[in-house]
Amino acid sequence: MKSRKNSQLDAGDGIEANNAGWSFDIPGSLFDEHIARSVPFYREGHDLIARLSDFFLVENSVVYDIGSTTGSLVKAILARHPNRKMSITGIERIPSMVEYAAGRVEDSRASFVNADALDYEFGQAHLFTLYYTLQFIHPSVRIDLLKTIYEQLHWGGGLLMFEKVRAPDARFQDYMSQVYKEYKLANDFTAEQILNKEQSLKGTLEPFSEAGNLTLLREAGFRDITSVFKWVCFEGFLAIK
Ligand SMILES: C[S@@+](CC[C@H](N)C(=O)[O-])C[C@H]1O[C@@H](n2cnc3c(N)ncnc32)[C@H](O)[C@@H]1O
Repeated sequence: MKSRKNSQLDAGDGIEANNAGWSFDIPGSLFDEHIARSVPFYREGHDLIARLSDFFLVENSVVYDIGSTTGSLVKAILARHPNRKMSITGIERIPSMVEYAAGRVEDSRASFVNADALDYEFGQAHLFTLYYTLQFIHPSVRIDLLKTIYEQLHWGGGLLMFEKVRAPDARFQDYMSQVYKEYKLANDFTAEQILNKEQSLKGTLEPFSEAGNLTLLREAGFRDITSVFKWVCFEGFLAIK
């Protein structure tokens, strides 16, 4: 039987990954295809965030999308506000993704910066988005980023944060994992690709529970927090300063 240990793992969509070594340094077109098949309601989540942005954007608004990858969310927010004067900056630590997003989003209100969000000097903003990004930031420093976001938001500004979430106990986690695996099988990933992806995400994707995320948001300073989306093990939160 082939050893799974050191070989490149087929994660689907032509993406090769390593054990405990998932990387976003992959072609942008492959990422878009892969995430849309992997994350339930991925595009609907962008649409929901774009709709909710209506409540936070004024003339000359400042928006940051942290972990902007291929720029799809930036594009969706701008499309929702075609005539509004605003700036939206995508912060992304993979250089090739920044280049891909910049070539794709042709709108002078958008810019993409190659930076680690933990080191970036954010200006005062009306809206921050973290769409399945915080889960890839080391648990020890998640609170630092959320505190910075809270500090940099204008009073009344919003944070829209979507995360994969763990269940509150082992039984529910077991149910959720099984349902999600079935979802991926139904989306034409093979059993081996599902296993390979899980293997590669070890130590990289670390989901917190809903309660864990709420605690983090409160520790960062947020008091007004609600859930805006939930599908089994994927949840969206809106927090307002
Ligand atoms: C699952 S993807 C996000 C998907 C994207 N928001 C979308 O709407 O398609 C996570 C992204 O966050 C980026 N990322 C993770 N940690 C980061 C950090 N500390 N600073 C900037 N980008 C980060 C990764 O490189 C990756 O592109």
